[in-house]
Amino acid sequence: VPVAPACSGLFPVSRPSVGRFLLYGNICLDCAMQVQSFPEEDSATRAQSYTKKTGGNCANSCRVLAQLLADTPLSVSSLGVIPDRGNPDANFALSSLERFGIDTSLMQEVKDASGVPTSFVLLSTDTGARTIVSSRCGLKEMDPEHLEHVLAATSDVAWCHFECRQPGVAQMLEMLRRRTPTTRPWVSLEIEKPGLELKAVLPMLQLCDVVFFSSDFIKARAGDLEVQEEAAGGPVQSHVAPRCLRALASQEGNPTQALLICAWGALGAFAFDPRSGQDFFQAAERVQPVDSLGAGDTFNAASLAALALGASVPQMLRCACAVAGRKVAQEGLENLA
Ligand code: FRU
Repeated sequence: VPVAPACSGLFPVSRPSVGRFLLYGNICLDCAMQVQSFPEEDSATRAQSYTKKTGGNCANSCRVLAQLLADTPLSVSSLGVIPDRGNPDANFALSSLERFGIDTSLMQEVKDASGVPTSFVLLSTDTGARTIVSSRCGLKEMDPEHLEHVLAATSDVAWCHFECRQPGVAQMLEMLRRRTPTTRPWVSLEIEKPGLELKAVLPMLQLCDVVFFSSDFIKARAGDLEVQEEAAGGPVQSHVAPRCLRALASQEGNPTQALLICAWGALGAFAFDPRSGQDFFQAAERVQPVDSLGAGDTFNAASLAALALGASVPQMLRCACAVAGRKVAQEGLENLA
């Protein structure tokens, strides 16, 4: 199995792995305006540029994963809900995924939907930060039962990755747990929204092989986990993330063996492997930020590609930080392999 080009040299012999990645989550339109700096409330600003593109965690991660897995026996399918193709925005979104070789045929299509979820994004030239305001535009979430139909119609799903969207994800994880070990794909989950409560999140962790936490979620939940930043120790030892990951793995009643991963922007990324009890840290490369929209989705996709191709945890973190760094330093999600 050839290795993902952006990660060349990082892997040992790749694990032979065939089949389909199924990525579940949001697929939306991103209406992005580049501005010099974030505007004051009640001011008027002329944008430096405007782009309309396909966004959403699922769509972004799919596009990066498809690039990294090109020329391997692993393929990428998107899963989620979308208006049928009679809606021009839905047609635009689906076509832009298909151009990357992503299979969109397994999505739940909705007739006469009111619209495609849409985000207005302000990209600040001064800082590279992205500020997002989004709306579902009346589109419901995917019916969890739709996953049953997809699994019945396919026999080659090797890995299911979920963005934690409520409601529905817990039900889908349970559905996968009930499959026999020979028909059970690898399962990964992204916990991104800081508003997600621990009591909802913890039972899901033991149903997964890999879990990604956003830095926003870790910052919001460190108090509930009774973890504080330590004044003593090096920057890594004193950081709140590795201690939160350890705490998340060992919650009473909900212990998990899943590999837990947390990217921390320009600092780098952490992981904790409950099986070995080991912590891992990879510093990010310094880059001049140009466009950080989708950087987290890129990090997740590169981690998935690396793990599927046989990388160890340190190799996976190096690969994911390298690809995410390259993304932040350029506009858009093309040319990341
Ligand atoms: C970035 C992103 C955007 C989208 C927003 C909400 O991570 O996926 O593309 O507008 O988050 O899903």
